[in-house]
Amino acid sequence: MPVWLLYSFYTTFFLAAAIAVFFFTFTRGALMLRGLMGGSENQTVHVYPLYSNMRLIQLVDFQPIISAILLFQYNRLVMIITSGLSAMNLSGKKVLITSCAFGNVIPKVVESCEDAGASKVLIIDIIQNELKNARRKLARSDDKLEYLEQNATAVRLADGSVAANVIFFLLHELPHHLKGEALREALRVLEPGGKLFLAEFHRPAPWILCALSWTYFKVFEPLGLALWDTHDPCTQFEAIGGVSCERHIVFFGNFQVIIATKK
Ligand SMILES: C[S@@+](CC[C@H](N)C(=O)[O-])C[C@H]1O[C@@H](n2cnc3c(N)ncnc32)[C@H](O)[C@@H]1O
Repeated sequence: MPVWLLYSFYTTFFLAAAIAVFFFTFTRGALMLRGLMGGSENQTVHVYPLYSNMRLIQLVDFQPIISAILLFQYNRLVMIITSGLSAMNLSGKKVLITSCAFGNVIPKVVESCEDAGASKVLIIDIIQNELKNARRKLARSDDKLEYLEQNATAVRLADGSVAANVIFFLLHELPHHLKGEALREALRVLEPGGKLFLAEFHRPAPWILCALSWTYFKVFEPLGLALWDTHDPCTQFEAIGGVSCERHIVFFGNFQVIIATKK
């Protein structure tokens, strides 16, 4: 084997391993350490340092990295949400974004809501630094935008107060008992006829992708696997009732966008 090929192989391998160790350290590894140190009753105990430390947030929040993490399906997933929002009449209505996310999903969602006539876009997150980062990405002062430090499982908004609610890859990170709470709250704040747009992981169809995905979840995000079966969002919506569920499957079933309409 030529030496240059050997060096390329080693460099790629060590780079991939370093990235994996970095992500593990500041996500599941940190939560395991917290657990070993006795944990805490704090409502942010399940949140990765990757979402609370400003330096880490700014280091990782880079579109190509985020697109790669979502297997380059990021734009497709965001487009399903923004097309759905654009098709709504949001004139004079409020829209909620429940929890911040890396990449350009928040600016894109805000743009679609404003184009569809929304009077206000409320952005909530349990971590103040995430809200600051969202404000930085929106890069403008806009009295239509409101940033609120709130918990998705106990939202301080009135019943039926928003026409649409967007949740982008939050559910798989929540402890199981909080997944249902977050979905219940997401529906409670929706007005009748309002829509919840929920992007998440889904069980892929091809066995090879299923095996790779299962391994990823087991190592990095074990709370996410339940979305494949016991905590499937559509099944949970059925149990809650009063909502119809439309599921869009993306990339061999590896991702989903659920559009839940409140009856
Ligand atoms: C929505 S997930 C996004 C994950 C995904 N990897 C991404 O960025 O594309 C992470 C966000 O959820 C927030 N978060 C976690 N638990 C929350 C909760 N209970 N209520 C509100 N926000 C929460 C975190 O602070 C973080 O901003």
